[in-house]
Amino acid sequence: MKLLVINGPNLNLLGLREPDIYGKKTYRDLENAIRAWADELGVEADIFQSNHEGAIVDRIQAACGVYDAIVINPAAYTHTSVAILDALKAVSIPAAEVHLSDVSKREPFRQVSYAGLACQAHYIGLGFEGYHQAMLHFAQSAAKED
Ligand code: DQA
Repeated sequence: MKLLVINGPNLNLLGLREPDIYGKKTYRDLENAIRAWADELGVEADIFQSNHEGAIVDRIQAACGVYDAIVINPAAYTHTSVAILDALKAVSIPAAEVHLSDVSKREPFRQVSYAGLACQAHYIGLGFEGYHQAMLHFAQSAAKED
């Protein structure tokens, strides 16, 4: 099982950005946690972060035939990007949506998730643990297929 973990804009500033909402842990801490969970679950995980919508679309397109599943936190692009939704649909790679914060309890403009429409599972408001749960979801579905 090969997973691609994609993080959208400003997530590189974790630790610094609005720590009351996103916590004090850094993006490096998140990468380390994802790597540790990948080892624990016996899956391969590549991690990609970009502040640019087109770069995220390019990465999703390039994932075709390479990755078994995508874990994505599109960050602000969640609420605006039809292009990321279309890319996820185009490649048909099973995807899970993650948000650190509970977007359902935040501003009205965060209530819409375009990318989420192409995702089979959603982990919202669980902090870093949401990534773990998403990875577990795909590791378990791979185990069921064996
Ligand atoms: C976020 C929620 C988004 O609304 C916001 O724009 C982000 C982070 C989250 O992980 O809680 O940048 O995706």
